[in-house]
Amino acid sequence: MKMNDAINLINKCLHQYVNTIENKQLRQAIDYALFPGGKRLRPLLLLLTLADFGINQEMGIYIAVALEMIHTYSLIHDDLPAMDDDDFRRGKASLHKQFSEAVAILAGDALLSDAFGFITKSPLEATTITKIVALISQKTGSNGMVQGQMMDISDNHLLNEQFITLMNSRKTGDLFMVALQGAGLIAKVDEKFYLQLGEIALSLGLAFQIKDDLDDYSHEQAFEPNTFVALFGQAKARDLFIYYRELTFERIKSYLGENNLYDFAKRIL
Ligand code: IPE
Ligand code: MG
Repeated sequence: MKMNDAINLINKCLHQYVNTIENKQLRQAIDYALFPGGKRLRPLLLLLTLADFGINQEMGIYIAVALEMIHTYSLIHDDLPAMDDDDFRRGKASLHKQFSEAVAILAGDALLSDAFGFITKSPLEATTITKIVALISQKTGSNGMVQGQMMDISDNHLLNEQFITLMNSRKTGDLFMVALQGAGLIAKVDEKFYLQLGEIALSLGLAFQIKDDLDDYSHEQAFEPNTFVALFGQAKARDLFIYYRELTFERIKSYLGENNLYDFAKRIL
């Protein structure tokens, strides 16, 4: 799969979406949040996994784009003063700084609801779409990403390896899981393969989050409280990152072979 073609397709669909927004300020705010955007990891993970199954990206593009919309909503709300209170995101003012807190809250709300509408455009059987909607709701809702965010804002005295592992799995791993298992649902894999895709997503999410925390630490020489860097220090957190990274490579290799997803994991971890 050609990465540039995939990114161009993702961006084209996101532009199409933005152009459907009637309210001018909301349209400008969502455009600001989506472009130029970040690495488009989650949609790429879905499309690359599909490619490993030999399935054309048209089959998954609306679901891929919906994942980017949900990811973007989560970042907008995460940056709000009541949450992480970050003034910057991707090298520019965070959305509530550029617009207002109220607009940032509503832009996040709209992205989440619109994502589900976008999924229904997929050229898939209704039963497959139903399964994907259930997966996305489960992995992003109260027992998924939002649970992870709740754990992140909880008191630090709960800090231990098990707690941080679960928190990272929920807040980061679960959206990766939607990307991989969503591709699995489109490809109609059997139950065993579906669970194996979940295993890949779990270790990939943990490796990715620990890498992100290590990168933050090396840039700012300060760590976020609820991280492995805070709990174990930089050296041991790095060991843990390498453990999950190698586990991810092994799992992809044995379940999907050294194909599109494998090459991509090697690039991002
Ligand atoms: C940032 O995710 C939040 C984490 C889960 C660490 P990304 O690193 O995918 O953010 P963008 O979309 O590329 O900016
Ligand atoms: Mg946060």
